[in-house]
Amino acid sequence: MKYSALIVCATTTAVSAQAGYGYGYGMATRNLTFETSINVNAAKQHQKMIGGGCSGAFGAACTIGTLSKSDQDTVVKTLFDENQGALSILRNLIGSSKGATILPTCPKTLAGPFNYSLPGNDSCQLPFAQSALKYNPNLFLYADAWSAPGCFKTTGMEAGGGFICGVRRSNCTQDWREAYANYLIEYVKLYQQRGINVSLLGAFNEPDFNPFTYSAMLSDGYQAYDFLSIF
Ligand SMILES: *[C@@H]1O[C@H](CO)[C@@H](O)[C@H](O)[C@H]1NC(C)=O
Ligand SMILES: *[C@@H]1O[C@H](CO)[C@@H](O)[C@H](O)[C@H]1NC(C)=O
Ligand SMILES: *[C@@H]1O[C@H](CO)[C@@H](O)[C@H](O)[C@H]1NC(C)=O
Ligand SMILES: *[C@@H]1O[C@H](CO)[C@@H](O)[C@H](O)[C@H]1NC(C)=O
Ligand SMILES: *[C@@H]1O[C@H](CO)[C@@H](O)[C@H](O)[C@H]1NC(C)=O
Repeated sequence: MKYSALIVCATTTAVSAQAGYGYGYGMATRNLTFETSINVNAAKQHQKMIGGGCSGAFGAACTIGTLSKSDQDTVVKTLFDENQGALSILRNLIGSSKGATILPTCPKTLAGPFNYSLPGNDSCQLPFAQSALKYNPNLFLYADAWSAPGCFKTTGMEAGGGFICGVRRSNCTQDWREAYANYLIEYVKLYQQRGINVSLLGAFNEPDFNPFTYSAMLSDGYQAYDFLSIF
């Protein structure tokens, strides 16, 4: 279907927000009030949307494993069949936590060994992708890492922030940027070996956010440049 529309709207909104500082311990808050006017010209295209999608990350892809084979099939068909859910993007987590990483043994030096394998079918993401491709052969598979393996980072841990060793201000004795680039490419190869092409590869998730409880890695724009120029 083709359509065009021009919508111009002007609104004045008063927004009241409470900003929280700290993580649970003695949180300080202050009140902020803003007024602004927003104009939207729907005829001007800023970005092209390639579709809608979903993710089976964090073990979600395994949950349908409790269903019968035919019910599993129905779930995936409902999501991805072009006459049903019509989703066209699948986002995979390139896992870095224990039991979910393609590099279960982190080498001590750049010399390796780097022994890669897909753990448990990549936390069920592999069979999920295979099944999704059956219903949408043009599926756009976006594989994204939340963090580099811990031993590639300033903190030595995959969760709780830290930077890739080798980017500016990382102060490491070894530069792990190339190892991280190879690690990401290895993920693509492991899928390729099983007949699946990864469409887009991501090295960061929320690089300005540092959750304490799960896989995360920090980077500012300059540090991202330092990695991407190797990648
Ligand atoms: C923020 O505003 C609420 C509602 O007006 C008020 O109850 C609260 O005390 C204010 N908090 C601060 C830190 O000023
Ligand atoms: C590499 O990993 C595989 C699968 O986890 C394991 O069977 C094999 O022994 C490992 N090889 C080396 C050299 O560590
Ligand atoms: C991996 O997925 C395949 C189907 O893609 C299935 O045949 C196989 O049993 C699964 N293996 C594991 C270890 O879950
Ligand atoms: C590296 O060292 C500098 C200077 O001591 C410091 O400011 C910076 O926080 C360090 N970076 C990391 C990632 O520890
Ligand atoms: C994957 O990509 C290669 C290179 O573009 C192409 O030759 C191949 O047919 C693709 N495979 C699938 C399953 O789409």
